[in-house]
Amino acid sequence: MSSDTDHSPHTRATELAALAERAASCTQCELAATRTTVVFGAGDADASVVIVGEGPGKNEDEQGLPFVGRSGALLDRLLGEIRLARDDVYIANVVKCRPPSNRDPRPAEIDACKPYLRQQLVLIDPVVVVTLGNFSSKLLLTTDIGITKLRGQAYPWWGRHLVPTFHPAAALRGSARVLEAMREDFTCIRRILDDTESNKMRGTEPRSSNDRETEQADPEQLDLF
Ligand code: URA
Repeated sequence: MSSDTDHSPHTRATELAALAERAASCTQCELAATRTTVVFGAGDADASVVIVGEGPGKNEDEQGLPFVGRSGALLDRLLGEIRLARDDVYIANVVKCRPPSNRDPRPAEIDACKPYLRQQLVLIDPVVVVTLGNFSSKLLLTTDIGITKLRGQAYPWWGRHLVPTFHPAAALRGSARVLEAMREDFTCIRRILDDTESNKMRGTEPRSSNDRETEQADPEQLDLF
């Protein structure tokens, strides 16, 4: 997923900010007509973990930030349990504008918004991508298999790792089993980060992002998902 392009932390942040500015006036789908704010994403442009939700809800639409409601509070708690703060990660969504009445995003809306998410992932180039719920998991893994079956393992993803898990809203609605499953999946994220770190210390990590298995291809040209 990495490229030869200079994606130093400074450049990443600058390029993400430019992309966010473009998204702020996006009218590529009909969600533009009913949104209050485009919720582009938030967090560390140099993060090792990118979390991808579904789409903004009412609170997010009002505040312009992802996961600020009850789901966000649970997400923060789960991150804290693996020693990560919200500022350590980057949080994005499949669609950047709120679907009215919190309906599911439609295929045309997801398609229209895909280039933003793709570019966010290319720029940040994280070690782990975490997909929350069906929409982001199916989109990034290009599958119709549901999250209940998908979760519980990490998938190789463009020379990176993808960990699908339930959406926090499902844990808030559902049984303790859903929350327990999410905890297992978050433990898997921590393990991948720790393994990556110790491989780096031992010098067995790829020397640079250009050494990774996708180095031959320019990711900006690839159909990542
Ligand atoms: N649910 C999402 O999927 N994303 C948000 O930003 C908030 C709630």
